[in-house]
Amino acid sequence: MLDINSIEEFEKKIKRVIITEEEIKEAIKKAGKQISDSYDGRPILLVSILNGAFVFMADLCRAITVPCEIGFMCAKSYYNGTVSSGVVKITMDLEQDISNYHVVIVEDIIDTGRTLNDVVKMLKSRNPLSLKVVTLLDKPDRRLVDFTADIALFTIPDYFVIGYGLDCGEYFRNLPYIAEFNEEDN
Ligand code: IMP
Ligand code: MG
Repeated sequence: MLDINSIEEFEKKIKRVIITEEEIKEAIKKAGKQISDSYDGRPILLVSILNGAFVFMADLCRAITVPCEIGFMCAKSYYNGTVSSGVVKITMDLEQDISNYHVVIVEDIIDTGRTLNDVVKMLKSRNPLSLKVVTLLDKPDRRLVDFTADIALFTIPDYFVIGYGLDCGEYFRNLPYIAEFNEEDN
C-alpha cells in the first residue's frame, strides 16, 4: 500500500510523462480504424480486463465504428510492490455466452504475459467465433510466457508505468497520460 497523504506526495511519485494524452488519442484513433476495418461491419464483443483497462476501453470503443457490445472481466495479478507475483485470479467473469461473438480482449499492458495467457486460454475454451487481443502497452523485455497481442499501441522499455488506468497501489489511474513511476522513497 502506498502512503500518500497529500498532493505533494502524489506528484513526487510521477517521475516523468512517457506518453502524452495527444499521443494516446492519435494511437487509439488508428487502432479503432484498424479494428473496424478488419471486422467489416460484423458485430463484435469488446472484453475489458478490469481494473487497469477501463480508461482505454472507454476511449477505444468510441473509436470503433462496427456494431459493438462491451463486457468486463476482472483478472487480478498480485504484486509485491512493483513486481508481479505470478498469481492470476479471475475475480469477476463475463456475463455473455461468447460462443456467438467475435471477441476482442482490451488490455492495459502486457508485462510477463501470464494474465493474458490465462485469460485467452479460458476464453478460447468457450469457443468464440474468433478471438483477438488489443493492448495499450507492451513490455516485451519482461515476458515470461510466450504471448503476442494482435495489436499493441505502444511498446515500452522495462519501466513501471502509471496513469490512464494503470495504478501503483490503486493510485494514479486518473492521470490522463502514461508516466514512469518514481520508485525512490524521497
Ligand atoms: P502480466 O500478467 O505480468 O502480463 O501483467 C499484466 C498486469 O499487470 C497488467 O494488466 C497490469 O494490471 C499489471 N502491470 C504490469 N506492468 C505494469 C506497470 O508497469 N504498471 C502498472 N501495472 C502493471
Ligand atoms: Mg490489467
